[in-house]
Amino acid sequence: MKKRVGILTSGGDCPGLNATIRGVAKALYHRFGDDVEIIGIVAGYHGLIHGEYHMMKPSDFSGILNVGGTILGTARTPYSKMKVIEDDKIDKVQNMITNYKKMKLDCLLTLGGNGTHKTSNLLAEQGLNIIGLPKTIDNDIFGTDVTFGFHSAVNTATDVIDRLHTTATSHKRVMVVEIMGNKAGWLTLYSGIAGGADVIIIPEIPFTLDKILAAVERRIGRKKGFSVIAVAEGAMDKKEAKMKKKERLAYRAENGESTVTNRIVRYLAEKGELDCRAVVPGHFLRGGPPSAYDRVLSSQFGAYAAGLVAQEKYGVTVALKNNQVCDNPLKEIAGKTKFVDPNDQLIATARDVGTAFGD
Ligand code: F6P
Repeated sequence: MKKRVGILTSGGDCPGLNATIRGVAKALYHRFGDDVEIIGIVAGYHGLIHGEYHMMKPSDFSGILNVGGTILGTARTPYSKMKVIEDDKIDKVQNMITNYKKMKLDCLLTLGGNGTHKTSNLLAEQGLNIIGLPKTIDNDIFGTDVTFGFHSAVNTATDVIDRLHTTATSHKRVMVVEIMGNKAGWLTLYSGIAGGADVIIIPEIPFTLDKILAAVERRIGRKKGFSVIAVAEGAMDKKEAKMKKKERLAYRAENGESTVTNRIVRYLAEKGELDCRAVVPGHFLRGGPPSAYDRVLSSQFGAYAAGLVAQEKYGVTVALKNNQVCDNPLKEIAGKTKFVDPNDQLIATARDVGTAFGD
């Protein structure tokens, strides 16, 4: 009996998706030869819901190791809407089960972030054989030391910070760069340290504006006329940190802001009379080819997932712990976020090398 393996990529794209797809496919062909069929599902859960999929062939997986994005396409299909019947009257969960059965799958591999994993867990609870693979530039999936895509984005964000130093030093300006990461500050922390940001602002360490200004003024006092501030997209001040998410969003909407970046710029310009600029690289951070590290990690994760298919071990997601590839039960990680621990050694390291956190 041939194995039939479905594969989809869901949520925001990131470098390493194709490398992981390739890793899975090559390892499946290596293990099963002609006795495996791989079905590519188009645009994540959207394709599973609407029955958009196609049989793939070995050549589809060639030449994609170093290509960014995903050959399968992706989409955001929020978990919160999965069980909701909307105007189109489609029962999304039932459709996914029906299409899984129609495809006669032995199992489905889902490459995605936190939202994807929640839906993967839901499908596993419905009796489908699911294997997750942890993707996101945010590195915030619970139970794994690292996700694929993260280190590529760290490289890109570090490059952005390096380049901003040029203008910062030449013009003696304060450059405030907003780095993606709507919940966790990993990307800002790593790229901030790698790029030598003077101030790093992450959601896990709420800030006050006066502390940020004080850090910049300390540098001016030391005849450093410029500063580079790396701010995570999800950063919040001490007052906002006490609010519920909805309340925080409403508070920001009142002030016409969705992130704190422009607030920091305004405060430094008005209160500190400093020449400031905001820079938002946004999706640049998700683009481009995966780094060498991510190509290796994606290959490891993909090959490990093929091993799980061979063992028929389902309801799990692949992870890296202490440099060993392993797996976690989906039900243990779904719905949890891996945050930066403010007492982490890395935070202490950053403080030791003179980085301020605005706290
Ligand atoms: O989850 C990855 C991520 O890049 C976040 O850092 C960011 O907040 C979000 O995706 C942006 O999503 P979209 O591409 O849907 O705007």
